[in-house]
Amino acid sequence: MTQNRILLRRGWPYLILMVLFAAATAGVTALLLNVAERKAEQRTPFVRLVDVNEDTTDPAKWGTNWPKQYDTYKLTAQQTKTRYGGHGGSEALPEEKIDRDPWLKRMFLGYAFAIDYRDRRGHAYMLEDQEQTKRQTKPQSGSCLHCHASIMPLYRKLGNGDAIAGFEKTYAMSYQEVSKALYDMGNAHPVSCVDCHDPDTMAIRVTRPGLLQGMQALARSDGEVPHLASVERWREGPRDRPYDINRDASRTELRSLVCAQCHVEYYCSSSFKLTFPWGKGLKVEQSEAFWNETTLASGERFYDYKHQETGAPILKAQHPEFELWSQGIHARSGVACADCHMPYMRDGATKVSDHWVRSPLLNISRACQTCHKFSEQEIQARVARIQDTNYRMLQNGGQAVVDLIDAVIAARASGATDEELAPALELQRRAQWRLDFVAAENSMGFHAPQETARILGEAADLARQGQIAALQAK
Ligand code: HEC
Ligand code: HEC
Ligand code: HEC
Ligand code: HEC
Ligand code: HEC
Repeated sequence: MTQNRILLRRGWPYLILMVLFAAATAGVTALLLNVAERKAEQRTPFVRLVDVNEDTTDPAKWGTNWPKQYDTYKLTAQQTKTRYGGHGGSEALPEEKIDRDPWLKRMFLGYAFAIDYRDRRGHAYMLEDQEQTKRQTKPQSGSCLHCHASIMPLYRKLGNGDAIAGFEKTYAMSYQEVSKALYDMGNAHPVSCVDCHDPDTMAIRVTRPGLLQGMQALARSDGEVPHLASVERWREGPRDRPYDINRDASRTELRSLVCAQCHVEYYCSSSFKLTFPWGKGLKVEQSEAFWNETTLASGERFYDYKHQETGAPILKAQHPEFELWSQGIHARSGVACADCHMPYMRDGATKVSDHWVRSPLLNISRACQTCHKFSEQEIQARVARIQDTNYRMLQNGGQAVVDLIDAVIAARASGATDEELAPALELQRRAQWRLDFVAAENSMGFHAPQETARILGEAADLARQGQIAALQAK
């Protein structure tokens, strides 16, 4: 009663309040609707216009559904260059690494890498560069295509539906045979959407048998993996099923593991199947120990080639980006390959991952400044400091290995026997393995500066020890 009277008597201000309240409600509702719309946009940032499935290797088909990702993916055909990254040389082909660093060529004498070994470039070129390399003048294994083409449908075909079985057949086939089968099926595309995405959910996943098996071996080993919590969890569990990336790994881990399908050290030839040497861990000496315990079909201890001038049984390292990133502070802090090489771009409310995979130094604002609040110039300078130091140590190591090779040749000329030279040759193998592990990695030390400094220090030391051993043999 009393309240009503008050309300009547003082009705005017209340009316204003009610109007204001209604207006505010309408405003909030509109805002909520807008947020809901944006959220929906985030959840389904695409309309599926065409169907894609496990056999759709042509990225253009996926591009109809996901045009923003496809448009940036196509940019990998652009030429890029930084001080140490991307590639120089003609537009037709990247520069020869073995001409730029003659000690590399000297190390590789006796192997196809002494014929042709160039800078890498964008993903768009991976298949044609593999087809064109003069290393193809030597017989190459069908395993090569594991990392240079969208090959899963062919593996399934060769294995009658079982991709792993198909994969395990290809090492014994020639490159030409596997390549022809790929073209005949219409799957001769560089790395494609289906290689990293589940066509039903678009979630990222891993497809390559080499990595699936490599990670199983790593999980079974006791190599430290502080950056891969899912492996540590699996190790503590019942171990009744092998570690399975697509079941066990977190999304953050997958943001690196999709790249580890290819950016790793591997063995690829016709003696046995494509192998990632992780059975003892990811570090340079753990892979070395793994190779030392591996035997070739001939029964000999594993080697990639015999050095033409010294006869040393050499291990050749290939682009261990994943392994060295694993030893760095970024991996340990949960920073994935995709954070730097495929950073997010805003597009309305949706976040789009930049599929123009390239040097992050061309993209510092999105690749680094999200975490590091320094100017572009300062960030560039910090990277340059790391890379220039690494470069100098690399050159020193190269000189030391060349001196070792010269000493072995001189010792032989003055009558030293193979038996007397055996210690020097073993040291050549160990020194070259370390030097090459850093030289073949493509970040010029950035991914793990302390680790590459340690490895290069050891490489130079072992090479000088080898040189002394050769001098003593003489
Ligand atoms: C913290 C950022 C960061 C992370 C994480 C990272 N990288 Fe890099 N990466 C760099 C930088 C910086 C360079 C040097 C680029 C240059 O010299 O132009 C580089 C270089 C490279 C290159 C050579 C690029 C070129 O243009 O020649 C490759 C390949 C590469 N990284 C692959 C990887 C892979 C694979 C992973 C994950 C296993 C990874 N990176 C993780 C920052 C990163
Ligand atoms: C485990 C994956 C993998 C396998 C197997 C593989 N590659 Fe590659 N290849 C890469 C990656 C990653 C790069 C880019 C990084 C680099 O150039 O160091 C590359 C780069 C190249 C390049 C360009 C740079 C250069 O070396 O001149 C050629 C050519 C090439 N590969 C040929 C081959 C041949 C031939 C085989 C088989 C003997 C092969 N690849 C097997 C992953 C692989
Ligand atoms: C199917 C194998 C494969 C996968 C998966 C793959 N790469 Fe590559 N990547 C290559 C090959 C091969 C090349 C070299 C191509 C050439 O030189 O023709 C290359 C080149 C590069 C380059 C050099 C680009 C340039 O412009 O010089 C970068 C950077 C790179 N990859 C990073 C990554 C990152 C990051 C991932 C994961 C998001 C990834 N790659 C996934 C095989 C692969
Ligand atoms: C080398 C691996 C790789 C390839 C090849 C690749 N993607 Fe991705 N893609 C990624 C990664 C990594 C992410 C980030 C996913 C995450 O964090 O969950 C991503 C994210 C996406 C997303 C989710 C939204 C976004 O942008 O983050 C879409 C859609 C997508 N990719 C479409 C494509 C299409 C279309 C292609 C082929 C033209 C393609 N991708 C090729 C690795 C790849
Ligand atoms: C997602 C976050 C993130 C991104 C993206 C990122 N960083 Fe980092 N960075 C870190 C963290 C975390 C550390 C470890 C030090 C710390 O905790 O502050 C670090 C450390 C470093 C260091 C010191 C390295 C060392 O070994 O001591 C350098 C240099 C660096 N970052 C450069 C870069 C550059 C260049 C990029 C872009 C290509 C980049 N970072 C991208 C988070 C990031």
